[in-house]
Amino acid sequence: MCGIVGILAERPVADLLVDGLRRLEYRGYDSAGVATLVDGVITTRRAVGKLQNLADRLQQEPLPGTVGIGHTRWATHGRPSEDNAHPHFSDRVAVVHNGIIENHRALRAELEAKQHRFKSETDTETIAHLITDYLQQGMTPQAATATALKRLEGAFAIGIIFAGHPNLLIGARRGSPLALGYGDQEMYLGSDALALAPLTNCISYLEEGDWIELTPGKAVVHDANDQVVERKIHQTNLSGAMIGKGQYRHFMLKEIFEQPAVIGDTLASLVTADNKMALPDLPFDWATVPRLTIVACGTAYYAGMVAKYWFEQLAHLPVEVDIASEFRYREAPLPQGGVTLAVSQSGETADTLAAISYAKKQGQKILAVVNVPQSSIARQADAVVPTLAGPEIGVASTKAYTTQLTVLLCLAVAAGVARGKLDAKRAAAILQAVREVPAQLNAVLRDEHKIQELAHHLAEARDVLYLARGALYPLALEGALKLKEISYIHAEGYPAGELKHGPIALIDEFMPVVVLAPHDALFEKTASNVQEVVARGGKVVLFSDAEGQAKIGTKPFWSMALPASDPVVAPLLYAVPVQLLAYYTALAKGTDVDQPRNLAKSVTVE
Ligand code: M6R
Repeated sequence: MCGIVGILAERPVADLLVDGLRRLEYRGYDSAGVATLVDGVITTRRAVGKLQNLADRLQQEPLPGTVGIGHTRWATHGRPSEDNAHPHFSDRVAVVHNGIIENHRALRAELEAKQHRFKSETDTETIAHLITDYLQQGMTPQAATATALKRLEGAFAIGIIFAGHPNLLIGARRGSPLALGYGDQEMYLGSDALALAPLTNCISYLEEGDWIELTPGKAVVHDANDQVVERKIHQTNLSGAMIGKGQYRHFMLKEIFEQPAVIGDTLASLVTADNKMALPDLPFDWATVPRLTIVACGTAYYAGMVAKYWFEQLAHLPVEVDIASEFRYREAPLPQGGVTLAVSQSGETADTLAAISYAKKQGQKILAVVNVPQSSIARQADAVVPTLAGPEIGVASTKAYTTQLTVLLCLAVAAGVARGKLDAKRAAAILQAVREVPAQLNAVLRDEHKIQELAHHLAEARDVLYLARGALYPLALEGALKLKEISYIHAEGYPAGELKHGPIALIDEFMPVVVLAPHDALFEKTASNVQEVVARGGKVVLFSDAEGQAKIGTKPFWSMALPASDPVVAPLLYAVPVQLLAYYTALAKGTDVDQPRNLAKSVTVE
């Protein structure tokens, strides 16, 4: 969602701000802007649409100034327009904000009654006028900010500059992340460390309620009670190159191709070379856990659905999987001694955070599977098992999903062993099957041209159906989500057994039906469904293995043989062709693959 950059330097900062914003583009946005102090006066440049529009504007009307803030906005309150783009400002204060100020209407009414003139429809502008009001009462910028923060309800990360104060930059966070970067006499703020990657690798993460005062070469952090506190400085290993596209046309394609490596890395962090578990210590014993509750959103939720099959089959552990935005309000009773598992790439998804806070209040232990170890979800969890996917920039999640599956399968195996439901031999065989996945995926990736050819047909479809059974059913949902997100083709995933209960009515010669059907215990059942589709003129696109292809019993419109594997790892193996199909279909349609319309990478508001 919205991205924030702030820089206090001894050189002009406008171009640096735009460069930082480019690294946040992946979060999704529809307008952008920067503000600096020019001769002590707040001066802004803002533009609707792509960041390039802002860069062009700055080319025509350059912005000097050595302190500044920048923002990419994903519209919540008020349509995407130049007036609604950040920074928002008065004559004394300019503010950039990520999050939502829930009491903005009441504050706005109060401030308008005091003759503050609003220029936008946003909730953010109230912050600028509120701080201005306190400045007008004679407070210092620091005191005005601290006082204003106490009146804000909702979630925010903010960056603020003050007219007449070229050596001051203030940031604050509550509910939305904000990183602080240390340079050589320069100080930085960023929504995440990626934004600051080329400027510094010395990063602190603000805690909930912190606000920070940056002056040249110095950072003073205050907690929610305005007490000065220390926050640890981390050395990140992010570099500009790591977040480039390399030889690939899109981040999504690069990230699809990174999967063999990152699955291997993730597995190696959890399992020894001789297939012995090396999981981090967990604050509970799988043997006595009465129920596991998995909460997540989007693709991470589908990873959680796959995990339900694994935990139930391998560990006989009852599992509830819930979409975090539903779970947080469902008032679900949770068992004593239960564990809630949050799955998230970003670790900042607002609904998932709220779900774990509900579970905590119900006395659950919180286990997090996240890709960003410093994230809010990681910090709120009792234990974290990280995915080692590296930065995922494409809005459509790919490598985060398969590394989540890798971690979740290892956890299910550990639970199975601890609960006495899985013997050591079968556990080692499963881990060996995971170990073979990277090589098998490399073979699939070598065949990407076949999927690219098929994608030209799929690009003509208006609707697509995805069918699968068992642990591959969540992948049918994920395949449909991927296609919707980046190609804008309507798609739905169904358990193949549900076909006759409704969706079969949709089948005609224009409806591609993507079937994920390895030759496993449920294959014959899915093969019958394939015949039902073919009999009605539907175009079946079949992903199976050689045996499945031979035994399907009818001629699909198109099919591809994937490597045969232990059925337990099929959700990992079949994920990649499904991702490639969405990618190449979107490419054929000419959509913006890495930044699809309306989408944000990390959904930090409700
Ligand atoms: O960062 P998270 O994993 O918590 O994000 C969850 C979803 O927002 C995310 O998976 C979303 O569905 C992706 N766009 C899917 O490609």
